[in-house]
Amino acid sequence: MSARPVSTFDDWMDLFYKWQKDIGFDASHIKDYEFDALYADPPHSEITFGEFKGRNKWTKVLEIPNQEMRDALLHLIVYQGDTEFASTEQQRHLVNAAPTEYDRQCLLRVMREEQCHGWQMCHLLVTYFGDSGKLEAANCWSAGPIEGRACSARSTRRSSISSNFSSTLVLSTGTGSGSWPFCAIAPLRRWRAA
Ligand SMILES: [Fe+2]
Repeated sequence: MSARPVSTFDDWMDLFYKWQKDIGFDASHIKDYEFDALYADPPHSEITFGEFKGRNKWTKVLEIPNQEMRDALLHLIVYQGDTEFASTEQQRHLVNAAPTEYDRQCLLRVMREEQCHGWQMCHLLVTYFGDSGKLEAANCWSAGPIEGRACSARSTRRSSISSNFSSTLVLSTGTGSGSWPFCAIAPLRRWRAA
């Protein structure tokens, strides 16, 4: 799938719905579910530990002290979002092969959640990471639908980057698609899963 430029999140949403069609995912299965970007009120306005303890949490990417940290954060979010969509791509053939309707509904719930997590990551990229974030969000699916081995490679890459990055920037309890309550970057700290 070749990505079109993204200027707004509406542009990105168009790509998202196109991606669903391209991989053969029937969105009518989850028609009662509305994707949204939700943010919670932050519990603390200051960084609570580490080298920057006591300073106000960074509310914009440009407030992050150096480019290396900015790049690392961008990559972490990109790989998080990438694998959320990869999960749906990997599971999509199972929708019509589920042994029971109960199993199929369980699978669809998982796929819906994974797409929601990817949606959230891309909302962060488009909203907070300028042209680089928009470019990355637009290219989430540029490699085309993937199968098992490719998905594993993406997941491995994400895990490796995530663990390295967590120890550097102290995303700490980050579970990726949930909130990062101790993160020094306000938008991520305020994030909560839908
Ligand atoms: Fe997820």
